[in-house]
Amino acid sequence: MQTIAGRSIPDKLRERFLGAKSVLVVTGAGVSAESGVPTFRGGGRTAVWKGMPFDVISSASMVEHNLAAVWEWFDYRRNLLRELKPNPGHKEIARWQERFSQFTLVTQNIDGLHQKAGSHDVIELHGSIWRARCMSCQGRYHIPENATCPAACMECGDRLRPDVVLFGELLPAGAFERAAEAASQSELCFVVGTSGIVYPAASLPEMAKAAGAYICEVNPERTPLSDLCDVVLTGKAGEVLPRISLETRKGYG
Ligand code: APR
Repeated sequence: MQTIAGRSIPDKLRERFLGAKSVLVVTGAGVSAESGVPTFRGGGRTAVWKGMPFDVISSASMVEHNLAAVWEWFDYRRNLLRELKPNPGHKEIARWQERFSQFTLVTQNIDGLHQKAGSHDVIELHGSIWRARCMSCQGRYHIPENATCPAACMECGDRLRPDVVLFGELLPAGAFERAAEAASQSELCFVVGTSGIVYPAASLPEMAKAAGAYICEVNPERTPLSDLCDVVLTGKAGEVLPRISLETRKGYG
């Protein structure tokens, strides 16, 4: 494993980047940090809401016992997000989608900033804060940026909940299977801005590695996935990702 502290992109990574056809990018909260979205962990702290650790307020049992509190937490986060814009990290990943013939973007983020940056067909492993779902018929509703979510399901009248995967819940049907398929076919895998402790998302780089992919982690801090990686670029996604493109440009350096 090679660690580069913000100097340049290793030749091996440049080679793989220039030669790869199938590329997988797995992102976490860190890719949105430079846009102003608080991460959950990292920097030795975890997020707290009204005295409750985020994994308590963001849990299946809280939906059962106090749906209103869950909505208050997600309304608060949605209000934060309204003002925020994608950063150069999101934008570079969107550009890569046009560059590689087989490109898959898997995110644990629910903020929708990848899509705002122009990425499409994003596999949202943990759902989206911009959607609500009926607790009975599973009907889904888009929550526009400048509006609140419908009071109840327009099909069956039951209550709506955030269409986000909460602690203790399964991932959306098919999402992980699509991501795992892409991991098993990838030649190059980027792990960007995730603490690598939440499964099954953290198993994707492991699957890619088992399939022979070259793994590159981008994170200002080491994570439990770092030892798995062929190269760890220690830095911020918004600075490191554009530099990868720059330093792989023909005639650079
Ligand atoms: N660029 C890249 N990485 C960054 C940056 C940055 N600018 N800033 C912070 N990071 C890194 C941190 O060092 C940390 O390793 O991003 C990581 C964020 O970790 P978490 O907050 O744990 O976020 P994530 O890995 O996405 O969490 C996984 O847990 O809470 C649940 O459902 C939630 O999707 C989330 C899941």
